[in-house]
Amino acid sequence: MALLRERRDAVEIITFNRPDALNALNRETFEELEDALDAVGRDEQVGAMVFTGAGPKAFVAGADIRQFVDLDVWTAGEFAERTLRLLRRIEEFPKPSVAAVNGFCLGGGMEFALSCDVRIGAENARFGQPEVNLGIIPGWGGTQRLQRLVGPGWARQMILTGDMIDAQTALRIGLINELLPQAELLDRAVQIAQRMGGRARRAVQLAKQAILRGAEMPLADGLQFETAMWQLSFETADRQEGVAAFLEKREAKFQGR
Ligand code: COA
Repeated sequence: MALLRERRDAVEIITFNRPDALNALNRETFEELEDALDAVGRDEQVGAMVFTGAGPKAFVAGADIRQFVDLDVWTAGEFAERTLRLLRRIEEFPKPSVAAVNGFCLGGGMEFALSCDVRIGAENARFGQPEVNLGIIPGWGGTQRLQRLVGPGWARQMILTGDMIDAQTALRIGLINELLPQAELLDRAVQIAQRMGGRARRAVQLAKQAILRGAEMPLADGLQFETAMWQLSFETADRQEGVAAFLEKREAKFQGR
């Protein structure tokens, strides 16, 4: 199996599981990912996801380079479109995600992590968009999402040199939010996921939409869109519960509705 799945509280931990190939993404991984997202989407017990890599060396060392041998201009286009749809699905997924980066996070692995809501890294994490070393360019959103996250300066340096950066640098430029010893990484990722997934789920979903869509709009339109999402949050049972619980000085019991 290219993916392993494990439940911890309300968090689904999804592990890329091809350690012999440093968890490089192949067709099988993508098919299993689609199935995993379908299952997580349906399961009311799951509030958030954590993605990580099997073995001590890698999160994901990129797309499986063996797949590139036979691609031509048309099949490369179809491959990119399918993968972009999958990464967009994760980015827009109603349930938030954390990438727990435990080693090499390269190429398509970086692009995957960029589609998650939160990225944290272990001390051995290494990040890079090495595609130019293969004579290609990032094709799963790397040229777009990386510069939106860390700014065009670092995005250009990483993409145009193909060089890796270490975990300290990734932390400094905002590519990861937190840097942890390897042994603590997964627990912390689950903790963050649990915090996001255990809150009023509709509110988290609406906030994600406001952030994502707003980033693609001029400020005035983004603010208007935020207002619309804010108004929608007043239609939820969790808003009534959250406000009542605060006023009654008790813990809120959210239902995700
Ligand atoms: N696709 C397919 N196989 C990959 C892979 C990838 N993206 N990345 C690593 N592997 C495989 C290697 O071929 C090797 O397989 P083998 O044992 O059958 O020869 C195995 O994983 C271990 O990798 P190896 O290169 O021996 O480890 P290393 O510690 O010496 O180097 C890297 C690690 C990450 C620097 C190196 O594997 C690398 O450069 N990988 C490619 C990264 C890349 O270009 N990704 C973007 C693709 S678009």
